[in-house]
Amino acid sequence: MALIDVLVVAFWAMLPAYVPNNAAVLTGGGPPIDGGRTMSGKRLLGDGKTWLGTAGGIAAGALLAALQNALVPTITALVPVASLPQFPLAVVVALPAGAMLGDIVASFLKRRSGRERGSAFPGLDQLDFVLGSLALAFLAAPGWFTQTFTLPVLVTVVFITPVLHVGTNVLAYQLSLKSEPW
Ligand code: CTP
Ligand code: MG
Repeated sequence: MALIDVLVVAFWAMLPAYVPNNAAVLTGGGPPIDGGRTMSGKRLLGDGKTWLGTAGGIAAGALLAALQNALVPTITALVPVASLPQFPLAVVVALPAGAMLGDIVASFLKRRSGRERGSAFPGLDQLDFVLGSLALAFLAAPGWFTQTFTLPVLVTVVFITPVLHVGTNVLAYQLSLKSEPW
């Protein structure tokens, strides 16, 4: 695969995992997942992880994945991209659900390490949802996963994701959608 194809496939395959965190900012609110529970005096997850945000994030990512599947034939006919992956149904859900799960696990770790809601955890903030979505996608469809996420694609994902993540969060912050730029 040419470099440009690797880039396009990496971005395309990860789009359903990129959207959930941003969608959760818009749909979030209401009761927190941890119900206010604490562990050793600190919140389990905190008020930043809500049922509505999680559901909205997963729904937005899954809808996008379904839309992408519908667009593959048209795009492939128009642009000579090597092979845009189609998402199997289990992956349509696994990518966004894994992204939300990774973000939730990161909040759990942040609270255990004494970081308040909204505090930055460089590295973890940028990759938690990548690890979560890749792990769930692998569990959901191992064959599809190894075919799609070849080593060059995986390496690309690990490099382009933090850049995109920082960029979109700064934008969301400037648009006052988010209270911190990370
Ligand atoms: N959000 C949500 N449910 C989620 C993830 C996010 O409701 N599962 C919403 C919350 O309103 C949250 C906002 O999206 O405040 C931004 O998400 P994020 O930066 O992940 O949460 P933080 O508030 O920074 O909390 P934490 O420190 O736990 O990451
Ligand atoms: Mg945050």
